[in-house]
Amino acid sequence: MKILVTGGCGFVGANICLHLKKSNHNIFSLDNLSRKGSSFNLKVLKKNNIKNFNIDIFNYNKIKKLTKFDLIIDCCAEAAVEVSKNEIDRVINTNFIGTLNVLKKIKKDKSKIIFISSSRVNSIEEINNIVKKKFLKNKLKITKKINENFSTLKPKSIYGLTKFASEMLIEEFSYAFKIKYIINRCGVIAGPLQFGKVDQGFVSLWIWNHIIKKKLKYIGYGGNGHQIRDILHIYDLCDLIELQIKNFNKNNNTLFTVGGSKSSYTSLIELTKKCEKITKNKIKFSKQSKSSIYDIPYFITDNSKIQRAYNWKPKRNMKQIIKDTYNWLIVNKKQLKRYL
Ligand SMILES: NC(=O)c1ccc[n+]([C@@H]2O[C@H](COP(=O)([O-])OP(=O)(O)OC[C@H]3O[C@@H](n4cnc5c(N)ncnc54)[C@H](O)[C@@H]3O)[C@@H](O)[C@H]2O)c1
Repeated sequence: MKILVTGGCGFVGANICLHLKKSNHNIFSLDNLSRKGSSFNLKVLKKNNIKNFNIDIFNYNKIKKLTKFDLIIDCCAEAAVEVSKNEIDRVINTNFIGTLNVLKKIKKDKSKIIFISSSRVNSIEEINNIVKKKFLKNKLKITKKINENFSTLKPKSIYGLTKFASEMLIEEFSYAFKIKYIINRCGVIAGPLQFGKVDQGFVSLWIWNHIIKKKLKYIGYGGNGHQIRDILHIYDLCDLIELQIKNFNKNNNTLFTVGGSKSSYTSLIELTKKCEKITKNKIKFSKQSKSSIYDIPYFITDNSKIQRAYNWKPKRNMKQIIKDTYNWLIVNKKQLKRYL
């Protein structure tokens, strides 16, 4: 199958490109290399004979001139929630108009789309309400798992809005033009090829800073590091995408929540302990009590629907995620210093 992966030099996109290439698909990437680290991933794609079109996703004139693809996997976004507060135009142009451009190309080609959406479409207020009373001093326990029916009411951040609006646009294109789609609403994803920064990719950032002994900060919710997230290994997402491609006609025009769920989750403070163990280094932490207006204290995904549809569930736990990310960072340490 001839497949275009947008954001193909990013963390998620590059892993998907490499995985699908091994399954003998004809893979292309579209990426303008705006994320620090994407030019490193480009070299990895090149070594694997995957071509990248260096095009801004906002530029439909260039996109429409590309050859026909059977499927587009849309992984292109400004993925940092906090950035969306300050760079509203760029985030809307990349994340929402970008998806519109992908859809126009799909309509022209009579092809189909797999969209990587985000758990950030969910209401920040409602997520806060799950744990409100238990938070700050005590360790959080898993109480509720979040599925496709959880509130998507405001507020959700500008980033969350662009992902939610993209989901709705895909559904409208499907209704009006019979485009087949699958939407994967993903929680936090981690693993090799991720260039972690303070506002995005915290697992990679945590491990890297332990490796190079650079201090970190617990931000928000009292600064105690009790925030909990489930984490999905990127290889588990790649396995899922492959299954979805194989069974496209069985389960299409559907939206799924996808995450590490109970098989892999961590609080920041527990992540620190795990990083200390694997790197044998201890680093300094400072605290910032005040939370950002976009922060959430908790997210655990309910994978029931996706599990039923594909008999899929994450195979790799937190230990494996940390081990694989650590190994990638260590093996490439010298070169990665330029990007991290
Ligand atoms: N990483 C996560 O934890 C996570 C969780 C849920 C959803 N997602 C979604 O997965 C997708 C990929 O995220 P990621 O973590 O790989 O992010 P990333 O920043 O690593 O990758 C995004 C890629 O898009 C490229 N890009 C950005 N703006 C562009 C533009 N205007 N034109 C062309 N290319 C552009 C960047 O250069 C980068 O290579 C995003 O849609 C994100 O919303 C990610």
